[in-house]
Amino acid sequence: GVIRREDYTPPDWQVPEIALDFALDAAATRVRATLQVVRSSAHDQPLVLDGGGQTPLSVIVDGVAINDWRLEGGALIVPLSGAAHVVETEVEIAPERNTQLMGLYASGGNLCTQCEAEGFRRITFFPDRPDVLSVYTVRLAADKARYPVLLANGDPIAAGDLPDGRHWAEWRDPFPKPSYLFALVAGDLVANRATFTTMSGRDVALGIWVRAADLPKTEHALAALQTSMAWDERVYGREYDLDVFNIVAVDDFNFGAMENKGLNIFNSRYILADADTATDYDFDAIAAVVAHEYFHNWSGNRITCRDWFQLSLKEGFTVFRDQGFSADQGSAAVKRIEDVRGLRAAQFPEDAGPLAHPIRPDEYQEISNFYTATIYNKGAEVIRMIATILGPERFRAGTDLYFDRFDGTAATCEDFVASMEAGSGVDLSQFRLWYAQAGTPRVTASLHHDTGSDRATLTVSQRTPPTPGQPSKQPMVLPLKLKLFGAQTAQTLAPEQLVLLDQPTEHIVFEGVGERPILSINRGFSAPVVIETDRSAADLAFLSAHDDDPFARYEAMQQLMLDTLVESAANGTADHQAVIAAIAGTLDNAALDPAFIAEAVLLPSDAFVGDQMARVDPEAIFRAREALRADVGQRLAGRWRAAYDAAQVDRFEYTPAAKGLRRLKTVALGYIAASGVDDAAGLAFAQFEGADNMTDRQGALATLVAGESPERVAALDIFYNRYGDNALVLDKWFQVQALSSRADTLATVEELARHRDFTLANPNRARALIGAFSANQRAFHAADGAGYRFVADQLIALDKLNPQTAAKMIPPLGRWRRFDEARAALMRQELERIVATPGLSKDMFEQASKSLAG
Ligand code: ARG
Ligand code: ZN
Repeated sequence: GVIRREDYTPPDWQVPEIALDFALDAAATRVRATLQVVRSSAHDQPLVLDGGGQTPLSVIVDGVAINDWRLEGGALIVPLSGAAHVVETEVEIAPERNTQLMGLYASGGNLCTQCEAEGFRRITFFPDRPDVLSVYTVRLAADKARYPVLLANGDPIAAGDLPDGRHWAEWRDPFPKPSYLFALVAGDLVANRATFTTMSGRDVALGIWVRAADLPKTEHALAALQTSMAWDERVYGREYDLDVFNIVAVDDFNFGAMENKGLNIFNSRYILADADTATDYDFDAIAAVVAHEYFHNWSGNRITCRDWFQLSLKEGFTVFRDQGFSADQGSAAVKRIEDVRGLRAAQFPEDAGPLAHPIRPDEYQEISNFYTATIYNKGAEVIRMIATILGPERFRAGTDLYFDRFDGTAATCEDFVASMEAGSGVDLSQFRLWYAQAGTPRVTASLHHDTGSDRATLTVSQRTPPTPGQPSKQPMVLPLKLKLFGAQTAQTLAPEQLVLLDQPTEHIVFEGVGERPILSINRGFSAPVVIETDRSAADLAFLSAHDDDPFARYEAMQQLMLDTLVESAANGTADHQAVIAAIAGTLDNAALDPAFIAEAVLLPSDAFVGDQMARVDPEAIFRAREALRADVGQRLAGRWRAAYDAAQVDRFEYTPAAKGLRRLKTVALGYIAASGVDDAAGLAFAQFEGADNMTDRQGALATLVAGESPERVAALDIFYNRYGDNALVLDKWFQVQALSSRADTLATVEELARHRDFTLANPNRARALIGAFSANQRAFHAADGAGYRFVADQLIALDKLNPQTAAKMIPPLGRWRRFDEARAALMRQELERIVATPGLSKDMFEQASKSLAG
């Protein structure tokens, strides 16, 4: 069925207190729940407790076993006469058979939970909705040898031994929380411990819990946690509130991590790192996710969501917060470029396709399908626009008011916006459209200079394309940062200004413009829109060399590259000169940060080039990009060698400067390989062999894997033999092959799907092969449809184990409208086959059926 936002009603019953008693066992866990239930208003509705398919072993009301309960669509209906009762239920569940990884499940011999969004009902009967807040007391009992560590939310209260080699622990979380934040872990784990003293002087015991062998890989995550805690105090005035903060890493996890109160549970890929096994990208992602989950303690836990339509209230805001944190740890400019690149790769296509939805959706079938780039990343951009419009002081006044007003409650996006208005005095009425309208606004900007009057007029128009269910759109509030440069003098003709567009078309007039102006627009990517301008290649080249906003400078370069690649894909050839000159100028500019240079000289991805075309032609795009890469590689051969040599770092160090050099080094290596010089494979292989860190090693491997050299096979074998027992590194081995641009990638990937180390049961492994392959535009879109068929086969198989993870990989098949008729028909055929599969999950059904219709 479809759940609609407009149908929200408050819960009939509240549950101020819950006591849970777990007799843990991988095969059969007994869960006894004691709920204090209170009727919310004068109604005569029974108590309805969500369940995940289990049958209660007993139902006891106020101490007396009852029989007049019934099950309806998985929910337990308990007739109750009074205003307050104590309701006890008992169920038995089987964690080791839980392949969905929702609820209580087994991972690597340990037991753990994942409840967001609706996993708690698979553990016990409960009103499993985020506006029911309870104080939890949790007792865990388990075999002491197998599960020496017993963790739950909140603070530890008591522990002891039991007969038969069992033991127990009790935890209490004094902060009322929704069921999706419940967590427990039982396992054979050790902790990397530290303390953090909060700004008011509270000592917090921190622990990062992992298998003993992984302990040396937890230093980075622990340091990131301490840095995050201090950052949230300094930047948002938010202090931690319990005596303990634990993080547990598990290998089998459906997504990145989970912010359970006082007991975050992480996909181990976002905790474990050392120089030999993790790339700089991994190190950065670990710090970002640790910060993200920690920041949820306020934006998510202290203030939670009233209903799941408000998901972006916590996710968009928390992503914005983690982006700010990461920007403060290194180069803010490079961080912004990475975030925008990610938005364009994941969110823009979503907004332009059949699954487009506003950051506050109006309806869903399966909420798991709405943990999207739109809710998270566009949601973060919307908060960023509010911050831009308000400015730092008023933004902080707004967030202070929000935290103050809604602490301890389940709030809405509207509550957030209203707080920002009240705290700042700024009217955000029209801005609210960002919560309601899906689709990426398209802005056209054209600058006209009148030499007689020294006046320049910028005409800006906006249009948001139709999206499913939203045929026509209203104009949005767009905060655009603008600046004008003089084409001759390179002087500033008009200093940076922030304009707020809110009309379909507007004119912005600049006086005293005495020479031909060049427009720098959407500086810092101040609005998440597509900008179309009539700027010439020469003007873009100018900006790529002179703009003082690093993002705008990067953007000018990207636009030059995109224009060249689109023309080349359409006509089979294009003039590469402007791109080559701009790259040369960037490499030669000693004032630029190597990390920035590495980003700026990178060609846009095949997929992003495709997004610029009316019809995506994967082979033409691939050829155009290869030709440009080869030409840039050859024409700037000396510079790439020099950049490569200059970027050598003596010894691994995880610092922004060393990271930048490593990045530039591998980008240079890629161009050297693209140039086709004889010793390129030798150079890559030497980097591969000589590396003292995974960034250099993986970068070299990716370069080799794209080519035809004998070193390619050797490197893959060496890598496999060296890291075959490390699951996270083995994921890289699968992924690098699935992303290869070689013509035989599909055959390789089909073989890898039969490899003894491949399993669909582990989400990281499934994503490393299937997810990566479907992001490989050339291979996935092979003209005969074999790539589509392979992915559909895998997703149908995965759906039987883990619907949530399978459904997340549907979107690439849903992009059929963007391709030629033959490919579109083949893609639809696979979607139809998926929809017709007997026993299909509702996760997959929603994604695949909407993809066919939209
Ligand atoms: N709240 C978690 C986070 O953003 C992610 C939970 C994802 N849940 C899901 N059903 N996909 O950190
Ligand atoms: Zn989150």
